[in-house]
Amino acid sequence: MAILDLDLDVLRQRTSMKWTRFEPDVLPLWVAEMDVLPPPGITRAMRHVLEIGDLGYPGYDSLPRAFAAFAEATWGLRLDAAKIMPCADVVSGMAVLVDAFTPAGSGIVINTPIYPPFRVSGAVGDRHLVEAVLTSEGRLDFEALEAAFAREDVAGYLLCNPHNPFGTVHTPEELEAVARLARLHHVVVISDEIHGPLVAPDATFTPYLSVPGSENGFVVTSASKAFNLAALKAGLLIAGSERVEALWKLPYEVRAGSSHLGLLLQAAGLDNDRDWLVQLNAEIAANKELLASVLPEVGLSYTPSQGTYLAWVDASPLGFPHPAVTLRARGRVAFNPGTDYAGDCGQWVRINLATSPAVIREAVRRIGAARG
Ligand SMILES: Cc1ncc(COP(=O)(O)O)c(C=O)c1O
Repeated sequence: MAILDLDLDVLRQRTSMKWTRFEPDVLPLWVAEMDVLPPPGITRAMRHVLEIGDLGYPGYDSLPRAFAAFAEATWGLRLDAAKIMPCADVVSGMAVLVDAFTPAGSGIVINTPIYPPFRVSGAVGDRHLVEAVLTSEGRLDFEALEAAFAREDVAGYLLCNPHNPFGTVHTPEELEAVARLARLHHVVVISDEIHGPLVAPDATFTPYLSVPGSENGFVVTSASKAFNLAALKAGLLIAGSERVEALWKLPYEVRAGSSHLGLLLQAAGLDNDRDWLVQLNAEIAANKELLASVLPEVGLSYTPSQGTYLAWVDASPLGFPHPAVTLRARGRVAFNPGTDYAGDCGQWVRINLATSPAVIREAVRRIGAARG
């Protein structure tokens, strides 16, 4: 049975952001929520929680232990679970690290176009952003990165691995080069790896902390993207070996921001739903192929990426001044506008492919209808 095959009648009963932001006749393929039911291991764990009333304060060990086991089995990455720190979620975890490990007023490098909270909200606090724009293929541009790292004011780098919105899965060689440059210029690397488990069957995700030279960096991650658990707050902060002691000087409140249910149910998924994840990744890859094959019918194109369930699509051939706005108004289909990801990406849209093939076909039909 397919995972990405829920009825729109069921989905429209949801009250989460994806399903309530726009009018009911708008087909939503925007915010990164998946149109899936929870996998069996998580469903079982949730039932058990309710049966025994396991709704107290966090048992902090569950998710660090499960993540360490998953990381070793999946990526061959050995982590000491006792040194992994829970936090409320990935975005606030990044903000905590920026605040603790870069000086106030310093510059923080980001690779635009990028997931909006890297740019516009609290992730960098009172620091200022320094953009190292990605190449047109969505890969790290090392000339731009080196120029940014070399600046006097720059003290931190928010890496997105895999990258949202491009879906780029950075290679071990690229990540090693990042680590080398960061050491050279005394830049703290904070790698957001929330999309790490979401890669195509023929791709390999490389955790930043697995490459030589990364020992003075940090990873912020969670299993909430992989298992669609954004409703249940929990994330993880992982320090490279040179920073473990400093990480554990962070105040207790950082851990206390995580919820018991978030920790417990993400752990249940990582422990028990690995087969589900394999199937999900295969279905996402098939949806990417589908999008690539049907988009030309409306004059657009897309090359499947290796990571995430998101497609970054140039909508300029449609000839609309603001494609996302017009597609929603005239086509009744919602994508994220490119301007959320970079100031000059107004002609791009981000399409959420964690849905059924039928919804993807319908979304493309609606693009065609908007074109008239
Ligand atoms: C790259 C990236 N980081 C972080 C998040 C959000 O994570 P959290 O809900 O744990 O803050 C998302 C959500 O889509 C994301 O794509």
